[in-house]
Amino acid sequence: MQPKPNTINQINKAFIKRSIGSSQVVLENVFIKSATFEGMYSAGIPTQKLIDHHVDLAKGGVGMTTISYGAVSADARTFDSQMYIHKDSLVPLKLLAEKVHAAGAKVSIQLTHCGYFSKNKTARKILAPSKLFNAYGFLSGMGFSEAMTLKDMELVINDFVKAAISLKTIGFDAVEIHMGHGYLLSQFLSPLTNKRKDEFGGSIENRSRFPLQLVQRVVTAVGENFPVLVKLNLSDGFKNGFSLEDCVYVSKQLEKINCAAIVLSGGFTSKTPFYLMRGKIPLKGMIQNGSSWAEKITMAVFGPFIIKEYKFEPNFFLDQALKVRKAVNLDLVYLGGVDSVDGMLQILEKGFNFIALARPLIHDPSFLHKIRSGNLSKSLCNRCNECIVEMDRGGVKCVLDSAG
Ligand SMILES: Cc1cc2nc3c(=O)[nH]c(=O)nc-3n(C[C@H](O)[C@H](O)[C@H](O)COP(=O)(O)O)c2cc1C
Repeated sequence: MQPKPNTINQINKAFIKRSIGSSQVVLENVFIKSATFEGMYSAGIPTQKLIDHHVDLAKGGVGMTTISYGAVSADARTFDSQMYIHKDSLVPLKLLAEKVHAAGAKVSIQLTHCGYFSKNKTARKILAPSKLFNAYGFLSGMGFSEAMTLKDMELVINDFVKAAISLKTIGFDAVEIHMGHGYLLSQFLSPLTNKRKDEFGGSIENRSRFPLQLVQRVVTAVGENFPVLVKLNLSDGFKNGFSLEDCVYVSKQLEKINCAAIVLSGGFTSKTPFYLMRGKIPLKGMIQNGSSWAEKITMAVFGPFIIKEYKFEPNFFLDQALKVRKAVNLDLVYLGGVDSVDGMLQILEKGFNFIALARPLIHDPSFLHKIRSGNLSKSLCNRCNECIVEMDRGGVKCVLDSAG
């Protein structure tokens, strides 16, 4: 679709330099490639494909690209071939950072611990705030998590701190701590998975205590000029989960402890995985990708009942995100359903500092160049979500004929 001349002029305001928070890390524009699991790893180490993928995004004009799921330790992985931050993976990551910089963009990585969302057979323990049934790992023989002790918490904090420092050292520009989508820190925040009776469970003040302590320790360790972003749920997407009110509380605390920016999202991978994406559920491919017959059959039988579909609408998180925008002053990254010039202009008008995009850039890494030059005003991604299936088939990619 061709844009109208006046919207071309207006969108130019998205293509001006902008620093993240109070740091001196300056992006060429407001656009951030949101973390989308690439599946471009071998035995815990990034492949050349991962480097090429992010260089393409940088060449396509994003201000900053984000590598997904940087597990902070071998145990923090959801399954055992996933990348984790250690000396061998830092070598290709350093090269990736150099190449992304040469292509004109900044680079960040999402630091994550899976918590009980794990079928990682190499993990010594399946950690979570509480003892929980692990439906995801059950068929791999990991049916229950252990409730974390204070010592476990300290070890996990140290893993995040160590990972952030390593990435800073090899030339990354920022890190994003994953506090959403039902992974470990989100499991602490959610009443669904946090059943603790101590100072880390119960009220939102208590549920957020460990995640906030962790962020504070990372922020202090990396120092002022290395932005620490946090990905946070607006809500888990189900009743009695982490709520928008909880999100406002946590956002205010993140502002106090000098988090550079919050990337707002939502959903809980083990319960509402499509809440964060919306659109079609690619069930056939998900069944085919099951790692065992038992998994395939379970997905085929229960998938249609347990995986809820959410209708896609442009800027689908905007109403919730506006509540947070009104409550805090720190930089906010809007994410979710931005797919057109009009949508982008709406987000900027509402006072968000950055715009994150996922599927429009999987569909076409040059989407932003096309927007800027006036050749396109709306992404051709149709939210078939087959890109999710592709993650486990050699690497995330768009399956549409029109893909860039
Ligand atoms: C294939 C795929 C993989 C994803 N992997 C991740 C991930 O590893 N970490 C994450 O925080 N979000 C992940 N997401 C969610 C996206 O970052 C984003 O929140 C979502 O797609 C909505 O944004 P969009 O409408 O711009 O696509 C993934 C989304 C897709 C489509």
